[in-house]
Amino acid sequence: MSFNFDEAALANHIKEYGEEQDILRKSQQFRREGYVKLRGLVPDSLFAQVTEEVKSLLDTNSRRIDIELKETGNSPRKMHTVSADVIARESELIPAVYNSPSLRNVLGQIAQADVHICPWDGEKFVIIRQDQPGDTHGWHWGDFSFTVIWIIEAPSPEVGGMLQCVPHTNWDKQNPRVHEYLQEHPIRTYANATGDLYFLRSDTTLHRTIPLKSAATRIILNTCWASESDTKKDATHETMHAMFA
Ligand SMILES: [Fe+2]
Repeated sequence: MSFNFDEAALANHIKEYGEEQDILRKSQQFRREGYVKLRGLVPDSLFAQVTEEVKSLLDTNSRRIDIELKETGNSPRKMHTVSADVIARESELIPAVYNSPSLRNVLGQIAQADVHICPWDGEKFVIIRQDQPGDTHGWHWGDFSFTVIWIIEAPSPEVGGMLQCVPHTNWDKQNPRVHEYLQEHPIRTYANATGDLYFLRSDTTLHRTIPLKSAATRIILNTCWASESDTKKDATHETMHAMFA
């Protein structure tokens, strides 16, 4: 696939974004809610290139999964995915964007923490397409701290697919207690439109997408980075994304 990525241009765009936007307010929302929208963080031309690449990979390399995971209280996964292995093999653009130091740097400013390349290759990125009635990424946490979701295509919120979050919760794989957390804490719901990016504190924010009410297309690129303590995790451990991607 064609490859056109310029780190200096991205760095410049992110610098301008930081001057126009109030990064401290974004950091406060991220730390308070576990979520903040970062629409416009990358140039429209780069988003368009990534969109083309993601759709092309879905056309040629996706697989359907339809499972429940006991480690997240048997919440469902109903979706098509393209795994990190396939993305790394077939795409130069997505790994190049993922490895961008300027992107990692601004995420670190928002998180007020060091943001590291994910030590597990299988967790760096995954593409997900939901398109059938009932398709959902059920309640779960991430194995790693920091996630940016690129909304490649999203239906109207009336159809479903919105993100729901319960921040400041922790994942115990032996005893996930998902329904206890849902009873104890407020759930916030966020609609994200085509072209949006959002930053999620994925390890301590219980989250899901609302199941699609009818056939409609929701496509995301999920990119994931590690905190300082994440980098010390056992690299042989099998991850959740690796299990469904
Ligand atoms: Fe997730």
